[in-house]
Amino acid sequence: MCGIVGYLGKNQAAPILLDGLSKLEYRGYDSAGIVVRDGENQAEVVKAKGKLINLSEKTNNGLDVKGNCGIGHTRWATHGEPSEVNAHPHVSDDMNVVAVHNGIIENYQELKEKLTKKGYSFYSQTDTEILTKLIDYYYKKYQIGPIDAIAKTMVRVRGSYAVAVMFHDYPNEIYVARKDSPMILGINDGDCFLASDVPAILKYTRDVYYIDNLEMARLHNGQIDFYNLDGDIVPKETSEIKWDAAAAEKGGYEHFMMKEIHEQPRIIAETFNSVCKDDKIDLSSVGLTTEEIEKISSIYIVACGSAYHVGVSAQYIIEDLVKVPVRVELASEFRYRKPMLTENDFVIAISQSGETEDTKKAVVLANELGANTLAIVNVVGSSIAREAGNVFYTLAGPEISVATTKAYSAQLIAIYSIAVEFGRVKGTIDEAKYKYYIDEIKAIPDKVEKIIESKDRIQWIANKFAYSHDVFFIGRGLDYSICMEGSLKMKEISYIHSEAYAAGELKHGPIALIDDGILVVSCLTQEDLYEKTTSNMTEVKARGAILLAITTYGHYNIEDNVDYVTYIPKADEHFMPSLAVIPMQLMGYYLSVARGIDVDKPKNLAKSVTVE
Ligand code: F6R
Repeated sequence: MCGIVGYLGKNQAAPILLDGLSKLEYRGYDSAGIVVRDGENQAEVVKAKGKLINLSEKTNNGLDVKGNCGIGHTRWATHGEPSEVNAHPHVSDDMNVVAVHNGIIENYQELKEKLTKKGYSFYSQTDTEILTKLIDYYYKKYQIGPIDAIAKTMVRVRGSYAVAVMFHDYPNEIYVARKDSPMILGINDGDCFLASDVPAILKYTRDVYYIDNLEMARLHNGQIDFYNLDGDIVPKETSEIKWDAAAAEKGGYEHFMMKEIHEQPRIIAETFNSVCKDDKIDLSSVGLTTEEIEKISSIYIVACGSAYHVGVSAQYIIEDLVKVPVRVELASEFRYRKPMLTENDFVIAISQSGETEDTKKAVVLANELGANTLAIVNVVGSSIAREAGNVFYTLAGPEISVATTKAYSAQLIAIYSIAVEFGRVKGTIDEAKYKYYIDEIKAIPDKVEKIIESKDRIQWIANKFAYSHDVFFIGRGLDYSICMEGSLKMKEISYIHSEAYAAGELKHGPIALIDDGILVVSCLTQEDLYEKTTSNMTEVKARGAILLAITTYGHYNIEDNVDYVTYIPKADEHFMPSLAVIPMQLMGYYLSVARGIDVDKPKNLAKSVTVE
């Protein structure tokens, strides 16, 4: 939530800042701003409400703002409405300190009162303005340097932050501090960069530093120095980012979401190949030994949003293949319900960004309680990856569209790999079945490709329902977990109200909502549950619903009972989520386009949810 960039180097900063912000716009898009400094001159701040394009127009694509040193911000409002005055950067009264911030300062009220007593006044409703002025206050009161002033501020504030700061007395320098909010720094040939996420600087450098919690950094003269809270230098090495710069561009597609849907066959194959060599799954790169797997007596899965839906699928898959009890929980609930974990419990956290606050805190808690933890994450070096005992990196590459598609698919593959390997180690899967499952997973990419190729039919159906008010998704077992994701995809990018229900649960209340013309999407990929779900479909049909079924080729008699069908290829039933979700992703996408919504940046949402 909120994106930060910074540049200090040989080139004009503003165009680089705007370019970086454009790659971070998925993190927030209610306002944006930059501050740029030309040598010793006073820094120039420019802000604009709304999408980044407004700031680009206001600055003539950055060409009108001169200087080689600057920071920028794209905002997702937490404190204070979206407005130009609340947009970052924020400045101290005399422009001595200018800052951009991602995160939340929890004790902002108390700090505001303290600063008010010291004579500060406030022009915005943001906690960032308070943070900026607190840095200014310590800087002046103790007559100390930027690092010490920021360190004193860090000790005083509660909450999460990634902050980039410029001081009037220190031209051509940028300072950074971080706690619980993402931030990376990069260097290349005398140029220094900072950003909330890799895509913002991928075009300029692949050599990045990861700044740890409660650390600070100083960008100056083409180098970056790191400090701890005592002001001591912390030595750090750069890491190389392997992502391809083109991966953060639309590559000819109208929207990132469509591009990312199309990337899925490749990403599924690459993620599986990362742990499967010569038809054997090897989780040693994840950090898990056979002894650790043997020891596991129960599994908890914690995640949010779509990643949670992967967890719901995982519950069905792992329990069936490994015969170990699995409990899946929303990370935000897990954290506060005092879970009883022992050292034989295994906690899997799933997160694309690796920065979701609730998921991260769930991992911290699981570690404290002595459980072994594994993170399935997409972003290398992210906070959750660093907290967890073991890491399974999904190889989805940068996911820019706010609505996840390819990361969700890669997470499913991680779950299949874990389930099959755990089953082998625990003796619930024999040699023949093991080989069969591996072959089935390897066949998924081609099947996904086939579904994507026939996307025109989904587009046609979506256009028919573009003006629906309510849509229901029903299914049983694994199909229910897929419906949860289908429903979320629909509501978050088309703004059509939708709900997913376990088909058997309908008559316990929700069926009261079924009326003439309401679209009910049913998912039928599990042979044992097929007839049960069709009975539930008949019940809603009798009440006027229009039925769209997603089922596998071969079930042609379904056409007698439903209005529309989308057929998908067959796979082993445990792996059907990977196939059945594709028409649902496409449905959400096409509905969004048909309704004229900004598909990649739906309102009120941010890609990486770093607040509770
Ligand atoms: C929905 C979506 C969100 C995320 C959720 C968790 O399309 O993307 O529901 O799945 O915010 O985010 P991560 O996976 O980054 O922890």
